[in-house]
Amino acid sequence: MSKTATKPKKAPAKGKSAEAGQVPIFVMGQRFEVPASLTIQKALEYAGYQLVRGCGCRGGICGACGTVYRFPDSYRIEVGLACQTVVQPDMYIAQIPFFPGNKAVYDIETLPAEGGTIAALYPEVFKCVGCGTCTRSCPMDIDVMGYISKAIQGDIAAVAESSFDCVMCGLCAARCPAEEVQYNIGILARRLYARHLAPKAGHLAKAVKLVEAGTFDKALKELKKTTTDELKKLYKALEMEPDMAEESWTPKNTSYLGG
Ligand code: SF4
Ligand code: SF4
Ligand code: FES
Repeated sequence: MSKTATKPKKAPAKGKSAEAGQVPIFVMGQRFEVPASLTIQKALEYAGYQLVRGCGCRGGICGACGTVYRFPDSYRIEVGLACQTVVQPDMYIAQIPFFPGNKAVYDIETLPAEGGTIAALYPEVFKCVGCGTCTRSCPMDIDVMGYISKAIQGDIAAVAESSFDCVMCGLCAARCPAEEVQYNIGILARRLYARHLAPKAGHLAKAVKLVEAGTFDKALKELKKTTTDELKKLYKALEMEPDMAEESWTPKNTSYLGG
C-alpha cells in the first residue's frame, strides 16, 4: 500500500461530526472520513492510498488482503479480508504484509503420501497448544485448529478436505503462539492428496484416450475452416447444459463427444 498524489479525504477534527453516511477510520494512525458502505479496501483507495501490495482478486479468493484492526474501546485485535470487510466507525486499520512463514521445499512426485510426511516437513506442528486462535482468526470460517489436529494425526485426506477453502491469507499464522504456518501445512496435504491419494477420474482418462486416438480431429478441422460468423451461429445453436443437470446429462447431438 502506498500513498498516491490524490488528495486524501481527511476526517473532520475531533469533536466535529462526520458528514451523513461517512465514518471516521484510522489508517496507520491517520484519520480519514470515508463512506460507511465501503469495504476496507475501497476505503483505503478513497482515502488516497494506491494498493500496490495486499490487493489481488478483490473478491475474497486470493487472500492477499489480510488486515488487522481494532476499535478504541476494545483491547481485541480483529482480523479480516480488506476486500470483504465493511468499514465501521473508528476502526484502526493496518494491512499485514506478506507473512514470512516457514515453507518446506519438496518434490511432490516423490514425496510419500503417508502420515509422517507432514510431521517430517513441519515438525513444529506438534507445538500446537490447542488455543483455537487460528480458527477464530480465519475469514473463511475454517476449523483451522481442527485440521492442525488432523495433521498431527497424519490424516492427509482429512487435512486436505477441511483446509480446502483456505485462501492463504496468513492471518492464522500471524496470530499463532506456536508459530505454525497452517496454510502451508494445508496446501501440502492437498497436494499430497491430489497427486497420490485421490481416486483417478475415469471419465477424464477416457476422454484423453479419445483425443489421442484422433476421434475429434475431423470435427476440429471442419470447425477451423469456418468463419467467425459461422462459428458464432454454431455456438448459439448448441444445446446448452441446463443448470443443475443430472450427472448423466448429454446433449441430443453427440457427434462432438466422440461417442
Ligand atoms: S493458533 Fe496455533 S497453537 Fe493455537 S490452535 Fe491454532 S495452530 Fe494450535
Ligand atoms: S486457514 Fe489461515 S491462511 Fe487459510 S484462509 Fe484461514 S486464516 Fe487464512
Ligand atoms: S483482494 Fe483477494 S481476497 Fe481480498
